[in-house]
Amino acid sequence: MNRDEIIRLLGTTDADEVRALFQAADEERRGSVGDDVHFRGIIEFSNYCERNCLYCGLRRGNKAIARYRIPDDEILELAGSVRDLGIGTVVLQAGEDPTHSTGYICRLISRIKKATGLIITLSIGERPYEDYRAFKAAGADRYLLKHETVSPELYQRLHPDSKYDNRIQCLRWLKSLGYETGAGNMVGLPGQTLKILAEDILLMHEMDIDMIGIGPFIAHQDTPLAHTVSGEPDTVLKMIAVTRLVTRNTNIPATTALAVLDHGLQLKALTAGANVIMPDITPPRYKELYEIYPGRGKLSCDISAVIARWETDLHGIGRRIGRGPGGRR
Ligand code: 5AD
Ligand code: SF4
Repeated sequence: MNRDEIIRLLGTTDADEVRALFQAADEERRGSVGDDVHFRGIIEFSNYCERNCLYCGLRRGNKAIARYRIPDDEILELAGSVRDLGIGTVVLQAGEDPTHSTGYICRLISRIKKATGLIITLSIGERPYEDYRAFKAAGADRYLLKHETVSPELYQRLHPDSKYDNRIQCLRWLKSLGYETGAGNMVGLPGQTLKILAEDILLMHEMDIDMIGIGPFIAHQDTPLAHTVSGEPDTVLKMIAVTRLVTRNTNIPATTALAVLDHGLQLKALTAGANVIMPDITPPRYKELYEIYPGRGKLSCDISAVIARWETDLHGIGRRIGRGPGGRR
């Protein structure tokens, strides 16, 4: 699909056409990545962040939240519970915490790898090339770094203290180091157009991104975007469907932000091209402070119950929980 075709599909409100789009994406998903839905256990191990992204509740300018760091031994225990649940991947996610030295992160990775053998995905933001290399050598397998938006102007407006070019450079470094690399964008950012969204998809395709997280922007009360309208779920679902059709065999999560808007939306995403679920296994007392957007900390914390419910829900749509690492085919 070219840019204009993508723009037209993202903009359609014709119910038959939307249904046909979701069905085509679902068929592509079945053919290219199969019926397994892969689970990733997320540990949000620090909510300190030195950046000031306009949309995010963890921005350094937000003095209204208490900050925490989970002690190493507790992180290790949580990783053990991911393995015990039969999930193949642990995602270590944090704000850009200035106390996370290269050595600290490397030690954490190698301890988890040694103790659990799990696939390790890092999601700790922009770092120098040398850090990414060291993390890989210590045992990290994958890295998530959403590009957020393909538009340099919009990026600059939302990230007064960051550089668009550096973010793209980081993604290229990660790919070149052999990480399975994740990018992604938010839908419904103020000033965003369908043309920008179409270019988001084309950028990720062009860069051969392996994992693609697309979620709605959700306004957070303690940020400069407090009074902005949140993203449209329908547009997110269409983005997921078109992304599946364009990128074919990538791993695409039914994002947690969708579940915050409505529980049913994640299941809907799974029938419109998505094939991954990322349950948050951060203990409640930390999780409620990891408030990137409102409502996130209040999702169910009983991970066994969450998985049991998914087993039933997935069965209902003819799918099953995937076993093993679930890397890109
Ligand atoms: N709404 C939705 N997603 C958000 N993120 C940050 N703030 C918000 C928000 N208000 C997403 C960004 C970022 C990740 C940490 O969470 O895409 O990459
Ligand atoms: Fe920090 Fe990420 Fe939030 Fe930006 S989006 S403020 S880098 S946690």
